[in-house]
Amino acid sequence: MRSYGALMNPFDKYETQNIALKGDLSILSVIHQPDEFPHRESQINTMVASLSGLIRGFSANNLLIYGKTGTGKTSVTRYVTGMLEEKIGDRVATCYVNCQTYDSPYSILVNLSKCIPGSSTIPPSGWTLDRIYDELVIKIRESGKILILVLDEIDKLVEKNGGDSLYVILKLMGEDTGAGGTIIGITNDSSFYERLDPRVKSRMSRESVMFSPYNAEELKDILYPRVTKVLNTESYEEAAISLCAAIGAREHGDARKAIDLMRISIEMAIRESSDRVSVNHVYKARDTLEIDVIRETVKTQPTHSKIVLLSVILSGERHPNSATTGEVSSLYADLCRDIGIQPLTSRRVSDYISELEDFGMINTTVKSLGRYGRTRYIKITGRENDIKRFILEDPELEPLKDIRGTRQFRLDENI
Ligand SMILES: Nc1ncnc2c1ncn2[C@@H]1O[C@H](COP(=O)(O)OP(=O)(O)OP(=O)(O)O)[C@@H](O)[C@H]1O
Ligand SMILES: [Mg+2]
Repeated sequence: MRSYGALMNPFDKYETQNIALKGDLSILSVIHQPDEFPHRESQINTMVASLSGLIRGFSANNLLIYGKTGTGKTSVTRYVTGMLEEKIGDRVATCYVNCQTYDSPYSILVNLSKCIPGSSTIPPSGWTLDRIYDELVIKIRESGKILILVLDEIDKLVEKNGGDSLYVILKLMGEDTGAGGTIIGITNDSSFYERLDPRVKSRMSRESVMFSPYNAEELKDILYPRVTKVLNTESYEEAAISLCAAIGAREHGDARKAIDLMRISIEMAIRESSDRVSVNHVYKARDTLEIDVIRETVKTQPTHSKIVLLSVILSGERHPNSATTGEVSSLYADLCRDIGIQPLTSRRVSDYISELEDFGMINTTVKSLGRYGRTRYIKITGRENDIKRFILEDPELEPLKDIRGTRQFRLDENI
C-alpha cells in the first residue's frame, strides 16, 4: 500500500466535520424548489388572480413576466402552476419550455405535444410546421385539457426566429383554433413587448407581472428559511448571511447569487474543518464564484476575441489607463501573425471590443482630441492575470504563452 507520510490516506483529513448539517445542502442549490417565497406575495397574487378563471372553467389571459436575473421568475412560475395543478388536478397540463434550449417553433411544438396526454409523438424533425400545427389542434381538442405553456426566456425565440415564430404558437393556443390554452412568457428583457409587431403584441399580453430586484433585507429574509433548514444557529455567523445578502443585492438584487454564495461558503467551512461559517468564508466563496464566471466567459469567446482581449491586457501593461484602440488593434494584428492566422479587419476588431465591453470584461472611454478627432481608450476591468491565464489555456494560443506587454506600439491612432 502507498504511504502519504503521516497520513495513510489523503482523504483522512476530510473525514471529520465540525459543522453538523441538519438538512441536505441541496436546499441551497438551484435544483431546490422552495415552497415559500418571501417578498413575492404580490406577484404570486397577481398571477393566481390572472389564472383563476381556469378553475371555474373559463379561459385565462396570456401573461408576461419580467425581471432581472435571479429575481424568482422561473421558480415562482413553477410554484404557481404547481399550485394550480394541485387545485384542479388532471384538467390542466403544464408544459414548461426554455427557449434558450428549444429556440425554434418546431422544437417548442414538439415539446408541447409531449405534454398532451395520449398525443402521438411528433418526430424531432421532418414534419412541416403546418402538419404539426394541425395535429396539435386535434390533439389539444381531444385531450379536453386546459393547457398552460410556459415559455421561459421567450425573448430568445423571437431574437432567433422573429415575431412570426411566436405568432404561430399564439395562434395555436388562441381561440381561433378552438384548441385553447394560456401562455406564460418569461423574460429578462424589459423592452421585449415593445419590440413585438402589433399583430403579436395584441395576442401576447393583456397582463404583465414585474419581478423587481431584491434589496439586502429582502435577500436576508429569503436566505434565513433556507439556511436554517441546513445549519444549526451555532454553525454560522449572522454576519455571513448579511454579507451574502449584501453581495446579492449589489448584483442587481439577485437571489441566486446570494444563495449560491451561502452554499459555497458552507462547503468551504466544512472543507476547512471550521466550527462555523464566517464572513471570511463568504469572501472566499465570492472570489471562487467570480473566477468561475470569468473563466467560463473567456473560455466561450472565439479565438479572435481572446486575442483582442489579450491585446488589451498587454497594451494596458505598457500604458496603464491609456491604451488606445489603435494600439490594441496593432498589437492584435502582430499577435495573429505570431500564431499564423489572418487578422480581422479593424471594423471586426472594434465589434469584438464592444462585445467584450458588454460582457463587462473591459471598459472603454472616448475622449475628444478637438480637430484631431476622437480616441477610444480601453482598459481591462480587473483580474488581468487570471484572464490572461484563462486566455492562454486555449491550445491555439500556446505560442503566446511567454508574451509580455513590452512591445513597441505605434502611437495614438484615431478611431
Ligand atoms: N422570494 C424567493 N424566495 C425563495 N427563494 C427565491 C426567491 N426568489 C428567488 N429565489 C431563489 O433564487 C434562485 C433564482 O430564482 P429563479 O431561477 O426563479 O430566478 P429567475 O428570475 O428565473 O432568473 P433568470 O432570469 O436568471 O432565469 C432560485 O434558487 C430560487 O429558488
Ligand atoms: Mg429563470
